[in-house]
Amino acid sequence: MSLPEKGRGIEELLAEISRLRQDDLPVRGGKVTAYVYDTGRPEVHEAAARAYFEMLEVNTLDPTAFPSVVEMERQVVGAVAGLLGGGSGIFTSGGTESIMLAVKAARDSRPAGGPARMVVPVTAHPAFHKAAHYLGVAVDAVPVDPVTFRASVAAVEEAITSDTVLVVASAPSYPQGVVDPVAEIAAVAAARGVLCHVDACVGGWLLPWLREAGAQVPPFDLSVPGVTSISCDLHKFGYSPKGASVVLFADPALRRRAYFASAAWPGYTVINATVQSSKSAGPLGGAWATFQALGREGYLELGRATLAAARRLREGIAGIPGLRVLGDPESALVAFGSAEVDVFVLSDEARRRGWFLQPQLSYAGIPANIHVTVTGVTLHGVEAMLEVIAESAEAARERGPVTLPDGLVELVAGLDLDALDDAAFGELAASVGVDLGGSGQPEMAVVNAVLDALPADRREAVLVRFLSVIYT
Ligand SMILES: Cc1ncc(COP(=O)(O)O)c(C=O)c1O
Repeated sequence: MSLPEKGRGIEELLAEISRLRQDDLPVRGGKVTAYVYDTGRPEVHEAAARAYFEMLEVNTLDPTAFPSVVEMERQVVGAVAGLLGGGSGIFTSGGTESIMLAVKAARDSRPAGGPARMVVPVTAHPAFHKAAHYLGVAVDAVPVDPVTFRASVAAVEEAITSDTVLVVASAPSYPQGVVDPVAEIAAVAAARGVLCHVDACVGGWLLPWLREAGAQVPPFDLSVPGVTSISCDLHKFGYSPKGASVVLFADPALRRRAYFASAAWPGYTVINATVQSSKSAGPLGGAWATFQALGREGYLELGRATLAAARRLREGIAGIPGLRVLGDPESALVAFGSAEVDVFVLSDEARRRGWFLQPQLSYAGIPANIHVTVTGVTLHGVEAMLEVIAESAEAARERGPVTLPDGLVELVAGLDLDALDDAAFGELAASVGVDLGGSGQPEMAVVNAVLDALPADRREAVLVRFLSVIYT
């Protein structure tokens, strides 16, 4: 795009946005089972959008200039603390930022600098690896139980060293939706004088409602002895517009370790609770309005619907020949695998039928599988989803697994990516039938099969290159 010479009218711009979005996955309706969270109640999303717009240009940079930000944040964080065992919190832009701040607080709690490490189960979200990378903390990855997919307490305990600043548990972990043994992990951390963060980005605003609706949910929040911080995303099961999460600290002194201040320049003094400095208060307004529009009753009803849909989905998948649900998830995230059909082909088949089912690569002994995030809107379409899964599984069985050209994986594994420019990488992809510039409904099975066959560090290098190519 080039900057237009003269300004353009709003109607024309909206028409263009609509054209730009024509190949996007739909954000409403329940046919996209990752990335988006739909209540199925347009009036709630409308309230959030209007409040977001109302706060759009308020800058949270200076809370003394915009006291509305402080009041709204206190209310939102207070509501989250009320549900998750108390504590002092920060409103952040998302799970990654909440986790980043928890890791920073832990790192900066070390008395005398020195090396800092954290113990992270392999099923924990990559946000911990990202935080570690940005903050100079080393990761000690520990395995999960191969049947339940829950973190191994013994492995966590064994991995703690005198340099460990943080131990992580997930409630639930994203890949299989299971809750780690939080109480046991927090206890071993506390016994060694180490902080423990619970990543409840997915479960913080879901599990309490599922529990109230009748699900068996073990204790996982700040009321558990030894848990020192917890993250809870509102732009997931809080159903807020994107850009909304809360991180809570059991001790206000720990929260202060997450903050940053600088007076080391001749400009305005900088005090930041978050990674970002200037930022819109829109997401805060959106989260606040979503809480107000749904209320306790609304969230509980959504929790009931979500629980019913997740149960039906698990039971239905178990009845489809060749498919099996992985683990026994307490949450509304369901993963299924198959020893008989190629799940990457199944995912493409579902996409052709108008449904997005998220493929997950094999890792750490866990087989490739398909992930479904069940939300409040899923229940009314759960039978249709099951039909599509069954049909797609059958179609994948007929098509057979992806066969990769001989030597392709070895070729990609051995590529010297530094010696290839983006154009050459794009041409290489095209030569094996992968169009990196394509849009619409991409066939991803070949790409996923190649990635699946590579070790994690090669997957990462290829993915970075892919990003660079698509933004060229
Ligand atoms: C368990 C868990 N933690 C953290 C995150 C990161 O959240 P975000 O994408 O909001 O940064 C996710 C995202 O899916 C998640 O599932």
